[in-house]
Amino acid sequence: AQKGGRPAVIWLHFQECTGCSESLLRSSHPDVSELILDMISLDYHETLMVGSGHQAEQSLHDSMKANHGTYILVVEGGIPTKDNGIYCKVGGKTAVDSLTTAAEGAAAIITIGTCASYGGIQSAPPNPTGAVGVRDLIKNKPIVNIPGCPPNPYNFLSTVLYYLTFNKLPELDALGRPKFAYGRKIHEHCERRPHFDAGRFATAYGDKTHAEGYCLYKLGCKGPATFANCSVTRFNDVGVWPVSVGHPCIGCTEPDILFKKPIAEKL
Ligand code: SF4
Ligand code: SF4
Ligand code: F3S
Repeated sequence: AQKGGRPAVIWLHFQECTGCSESLLRSSHPDVSELILDMISLDYHETLMVGSGHQAEQSLHDSMKANHGTYILVVEGGIPTKDNGIYCKVGGKTAVDSLTTAAEGAAAIITIGTCASYGGIQSAPPNPTGAVGVRDLIKNKPIVNIPGCPPNPYNFLSTVLYYLTFNKLPELDALGRPKFAYGRKIHEHCERRPHFDAGRFATAYGDKTHAEGYCLYKLGCKGPATFANCSVTRFNDVGVWPVSVGHPCIGCTEPDILFKKPIAEKL
């Protein structure tokens, strides 16, 4: 049940900002057109598809039926569970219903972004909509989490290409993240690490210590507790990542680190 050897991909959006899709749109190796025209058959994606309304719903339904048991389900966004899930509806169905239905026929699920992986920003206390990640609701399917806010598109693309090449999912860590991308801490490969080791810390944005490129730990950097490859893979093919442009890592690939106090306060 594949179109010209290209596996069907169904992409659902729930409580999200579309930043994950936007991030993917800016990738270039391969670029998104190569991905969706040559490698996969993207049968449903609310931002990228031409159809809308009933036509889009029909396309979703047709693909799930034709590719039952073989399609890859990609989820972007958290899923609100409070009050019967009424806080996110698409096509008259709650996110919980759409996810459960689409997951049933999926061969595997990839969550793109921290929202879909763990609930993300909207699950921050007091989590008014009861937002959760896919893994909190779906227990009987292989799930690969690609967290980040947004994640590096190459971690998503690498996972898809790995699956297409080897017909299996990459090795995952305890939080469901591919080890090839999330196996090490930011801090281990940070260019500011020599400053950390020497005890040279930036103390205020824009001051001399900040301008000198000192370690951002005392400005709240969570790199020592964050597993991701940002400091190696970097973003947008221009070699930058948050810490390189002067902002501490906020731990966006970790489940709840976003909502905790900066670890530097413990110093
Ligand atoms: Fe937006 Fe971040 Fe959620 Fe992606 S993970 S949809 S970038 S809020
Ligand atoms: Fe570690 Fe952050 Fe300092 Fe880099 S800036 S060395 S990640 S604490
Ligand atoms: Fe996120 Fe930290 Fe990387 S904030 S993008 S994990 S540097």
